[in-house]
Amino acid sequence: MLLETNGLTKRFGELTAVDEVDLQIEEGDSLSIIGPNGAGKSTTVNLITGLLNPTEGDVLYRGERITGQEPHEIVQQGLSKSFQTASIFPELTVERNAIVAALGAEHGSFSLNFFKRLTGYDEVAERARRTLEDMGLYEQRHIEAQSLPYGDKRRLEMALALASDPDLLFLDEPTAGMSPDETDDTVDLIERIKEERGVTIVLIEHDMEIIFRVSDRIAVLNRGAKIADGTPDDIRGDPDVQEAYLGGVEI
Ligand SMILES: Nc1ncnc2c1ncn2[C@@H]1O[C@H](COP(=O)(O)OP(=O)(O)O)[C@@H](O)[C@H]1O
Ligand SMILES: [Mg+2]
Repeated sequence: MLLETNGLTKRFGELTAVDEVDLQIEEGDSLSIIGPNGAGKSTTVNLITGLLNPTEGDVLYRGERITGQEPHEIVQQGLSKSFQTASIFPELTVERNAIVAALGAEHGSFSLNFFKRLTGYDEVAERARRTLEDMGLYEQRHIEAQSLPYGDKRRLEMALALASDPDLLFLDEPTAGMSPDETDDTVDLIERIKEERGVTIVLIEHDMEIIFRVSDRIAVLNRGAKIADGTPDDIRGDPDVQEAYLGGVEI
């Protein structure tokens, strides 16, 4: 098992945002997390990637407990999350941004992996270049990140997450705010990085068409709790899921 959560719980005061969630992610088996707004999807991913500490429960990565570790320690072990624009340095070029992200995965990894320490700058720069090519951003490498159009900025966020060469990549609504064309391109890219790099992807997405296209498995959250977990076909026919979604419809 690549990643497992056991009884993962996060309370903010009175609110239980994540309520005893158990997830299992096999290597190479992409999982999507779906659920109405406020269901606890982003919080769940933030608990796994170390941005938040759980109130209760555990996160196991390759069988080792990583609960409560710092985000940079977690990245160095091979988990990476595509952050919102916060991770982009607006005044640096696209290329510089990618190199900084690729270096971030190396920094301080000495105690975890002696050999990683031997990675030279050339190798880091090469990884940054390959990532930009994969994400279709290589032509724009000399442009300041702040000058990129919206869709390219979002793709750069994904590239920065990929630049650390993760085994497990978390994407929290990667197509939010994109035009239909940008969305299509991005979904193609997600499928490509999954195949070509063998990255296991955890995707949070509200567009069901995208979900059914890219997921091997789907977990459904509602009010913090997992209410269903299975293949896209299992989920499509699940009455609890339909109920949660009907309940979530805004009138
Ligand atoms: N830092 C926080 N402090 C207090 N409440 C929060 C915080 N982050 C999220 N929440 C609340 O936790 C619930 C789950 O939020 P979130 O995980 O962002 O949902 P989703 O990503 O599924 O839309 C929501 O009710 C949200 O308002
Ligand atoms: Mg969210």
